Amino acid sequence: MSRKYAESEVPEGFLVGKKIAILGYGKQGRAQAHLLKKAGADIKIGARKGFSAEAARADRFTVLPFSEAAQWADIIHFLLPDPAHKSVFKDHINPHLKTGKTLCFSHGLSVGWGDISVPKDIGCILITPKATGAKLLQQHESGGGCITLVGVYSAPIGTELQLALAMAQALGGFREGVYETTFRAEASANLFAEQAVLCGGMTELVKAGFKTLIDAGYPPAVAYAECVRDLKLTVDLLASGGLSCLWESISTTAAYGGMTAGKRIIDSSVQGRMKDLLNDIEQGGFAQKWLTDGVQNEFEQLLKVEKSHPIEVTHAEINSPQKP
Ligand SMILES: NC(=O)c1ccc[n+]([C@@H]2O[C@H](COP(=O)([O-])OP(=O)(O)OC[C@H]3O[C@@H](n4cnc5c(N)ncnc54)[C@H](OP(=O)(O)O)[C@@H]3O)[C@@H](O)[C@H]2O)c1
Repeated sequence: MSRKYAESEVPEGFLVGKKIAILGYGKQGRAQAHLLKKAGADIKIGARKGFSAEAARADRFTVLPFSEAAQWADIIHFLLPDPAHKSVFKDHINPHLKTGKTLCFSHGLSVGWGDISVPKDIGCILITPKATGAKLLQQHESGGGCITLVGVYSAPIGTELQLALAMAQALGGFREGVYETTFRAEASANLFAEQAVLCGGMTELVKAGFKTLIDAGYPPAVAYAECVRDLKLTVDLLASGGLSCLWESISTTAAYGGMTAGKRIIDSSVQGRMKDLLNDIEQGGFAQKWLTDGVQNEFEQLLKVEKSHPIEVTHAEINSPQKP
């Protein structure tokens, strides 16, 4: 069972003056840099030359090349896209690691399946806020937070768990709950949910519904409004109040139809395929494919196909400014 941590386990002022290099100033990098700085940590950004280095400077952070950031910091936080972890670690970080430094991640993928081999005398921790960077900042402003998972891969110093909990606190985790995990467990559950439900399953369901209505002769704008745009209404209800909130907030016609017909579409055979997918992820099948060079081209091709889907055409037509 995953343990739920209490905020009382976080030593007071633990982050004050801690030298943390945030590698990458993208979605998570920007948000976490701001929140960790607010908690008193000494933050510098590790980045290559380019757009995000400029953005970090504009936000008044000192920006260093990756290797200088690794030499300076006690805590090196990888907030780069997962496929970039391996080469940045090998070329810029590993040569500067020495006892007393701690590696830190917000996703378990690259350490979990061995893309990064953590040296024996180096600490390694995971802090995963279950929110986008923008949401993290937004929630922090409004006094909210999000479920955060923390894991300790190695702890030669002995205070790595306290460090992870203090970072989770700075990101607002204790406002909703901070739970224990491992690198593989975090990554497996996250990848599975993204692939089967949130991103992969949801978009295929939407595309199938849209196509069914179009093939039956309904206008694309109607298919779009019914299957795409109204999705947000039900997702918001489900996320804010659970299943009962969803079923009780919509019409009884929609609720009865949904509860009875949904199972005709998502039947028990789906569960079998979901289990296969989860097994594949847990055994490292996806990690091996995604973290291998070369798959980037396939990714770009897939993105191109999605961008020309009929849903995109309809979306553009509906949202283009009306001509007088
Ligand atoms: N996004 C989320 O909502 C979310 C949630 C939880 C956990 N995570 C995890 O957080 C980590 C960061 O994800 P993210 O979505 O925040 O990443 P991201 O926004 O895509 O990261 C962009 C940053 O990485 C730099 N970068 C990209 N490719 C690089 C390369 N090959 N070499 C060096 N720098 C490179 C970019 O620099 P340039 O501007 O120079 O390109 C930019 O600073 C990942 O491990 C992810 O799984 C993300």
